[in-house]
Amino acid sequence: MDDPRGRMTKDGIRIHEAADFAGMHAAGKLAAEILDEVAPMVAPGVTTGELDDYIRTRIEGSGAKSATIGYRGYAHASCISVNHVVCHGIPGPKVLKDGDILNIDVTVIVDGWFGDTSRMYVAGSLSRKAERLIQVTHDALMKGIDAVRPGATFGDIGHAIQNYVEAQRMSVVRDFCGHGLGRVFHAPPNVLHYGRPGSGPRLEEGMFFTIEPMVNLGRPETKVLADDWTAVTRDKSLSAQFEHSVGVTADGCDIFTLSPAGIFHPTW
Ligand code: MF3
Ligand code: CO
Ligand code: CO
Repeated sequence: MDDPRGRMTKDGIRIHEAADFAGMHAAGKLAAEILDEVAPMVAPGVTTGELDDYIRTRIEGSGAKSATIGYRGYAHASCISVNHVVCHGIPGPKVLKDGDILNIDVTVIVDGWFGDTSRMYVAGSLSRKAERLIQVTHDALMKGIDAVRPGATFGDIGHAIQNYVEAQRMSVVRDFCGHGLGRVFHAPPNVLHYGRPGSGPRLEEGMFFTIEPMVNLGRPETKVLADDWTAVTRDKSLSAQFEHSVGVTADGCDIFTLSPAGIFHPTW
């Protein structure tokens, strides 16, 4: 569907109007609320399919739509990526066991606006190395968000993330990126989680996009399994991811997917 209002930059990035922020806040809030609600359900013995069933029912019960059901043949209301799965893990009969770490990624459509967010969860006890990975990945997302303001570039965001992660001797995944969104799921630009300061398109007030760094304890390379979705680390090292949907404001950044319960980080 074409957007009658706003305008497009030369890089094809839509500049939204002030009134559009409210639509993104409503969509982002629902997605974040759902991620809050699944937190107490994550435990050893639970299957990823059961978590997805809750998410699907909750989205439909609220009168919203799942953006992922039917997207390029995907059939689930969430992606659930356990341990060495980097992203796009398919929910199903897999039973969580003590010590598993997992990312749950939900995208909803509310009144035509897309809210896309993911965060990490822990089943049972958390190992020291997994805790460090989750902390670094969360902080990397926040450093990327701190770089968002008019006049900065997308390279500044990527650089802030990469610089921090690599200083912790972890690696940033290159094969997947964040994306513009709004009244569409995936739009320009590709939001890279690595880069050089000053490179890439310049940020302008009214741009909406996700930042969703994936960080590995080992090497950055990934491969996609035979199901054509599940992306894993090639070296089987643990991987983590956090995602927010954000908008550029006159003086910085508006986060659409803040956790209403204040439990975005799993070790709240
Ligand atoms: N929510 C994911 C993202 O952050 C996209 C998932 S597409 C799916 O962009 F089809 F795998 F669900
Ligand atoms: Co996304
Ligand atoms: Co997502």
